[in-house]
Amino acid sequence: MNIADYPTIADDWERRATIRTRPRRLLENDDKLIYPLCRQPLVLSATFLEHCPLWRDFVLVQSFYKFINDVVIFETEIVDKTARSIAKNRFAVPFPLACRIDAMTVVVDEDYHALVALDFLQQTVAMTGIQPLDLPVHIELSRALPAAKAQAPAHLHDAIELIGVAIAENTVTHDVAAFSKDNSIKASIRGLMADHLFDEGRHAQFWTRLVRLYWQDASPTDRDSIAHVLPTFLAHYLTNDLQKDFDLRLIEHLDVSARLRSALRDEVLALAFPITHRHPLMGNILGFLQHSGLLNTASVAQALSDYLPVSGRAA
Ligand SMILES: [Fe+2]
Ligand SMILES: [Fe+2]
Repeated sequence: MNIADYPTIADDWERRATIRTRPRRLLENDDKLIYPLCRQPLVLSATFLEHCPLWRDFVLVQSFYKFINDVVIFETEIVDKTARSIAKNRFAVPFPLACRIDAMTVVVDEDYHALVALDFLQQTVAMTGIQPLDLPVHIELSRALPAAKAQAPAHLHDAIELIGVAIAENTVTHDVAAFSKDNSIKASIRGLMADHLFDEGRHAQFWTRLVRLYWQDASPTDRDSIAHVLPTFLAHYLTNDLQKDFDLRLIEHLDVSARLRSALRDEVLALAFPITHRHPLMGNILGFLQHSGLLNTASVAQALSDYLPVSGRAA
């Protein structure tokens, strides 16, 4: 591997990682929101606003709990696992020590993010008295990775995991940005999201550089095999099925009439969510595909032609 063009993130981590620089944040008891309305369209639907606006805070608190639960699964079960095995040199793709140390800083950051998320879960339960509903055991990524691996030979499973995690780590930035800039949200939660975003900018760079190193050395056959599974990965990663399931279960817990419940269900089912280049995460994903070098490979551009803006499509 030629690591001449691999700039390490370790110095940046020493100076700026939030685990080294930020105090604990405390949830404030004010009348601001705990979760952005735009991330829970159910409460913005005409039916909800007209017939059960009093349930808004319950829905937002439960949606916040789900968000926290998703973060914990993502950080501890997926990113931590991949970064840790790279750091310990147990990955099928061996990386130089500089990369392994960077990977260990990611492990530390992600476990810290999970700790902060659980702290906020606890603080929110204490302040609102609202207990979380049963939370999902899967996130989109925990289904996308096995689905993609199942379509490729075993020796490529770690490489696919690397690329899948890199894609996800390049989109989490977009995901958390909605919180940090929304003035209707509690300051502590905006701060928590801004902290997370701050670390994730560094992670996105790290994973992109790591994939770049891997891709430079990968054989043409391996590159083509990986290209072939990318559409499966994206279809599972970008679906809103899990969010829909959660919203439908949430509606079951509202104390409203059967008729209203069914109208709310219709609102959730009607939310369109096209998985195309217009998907809100696709901009970040395309940026990653370009910067990591993947999109320079013809089979990748070909496999993803449905996801690319018309101008970027392979002939
Ligand atoms: Fe994180
Ligand atoms: Fe991360």
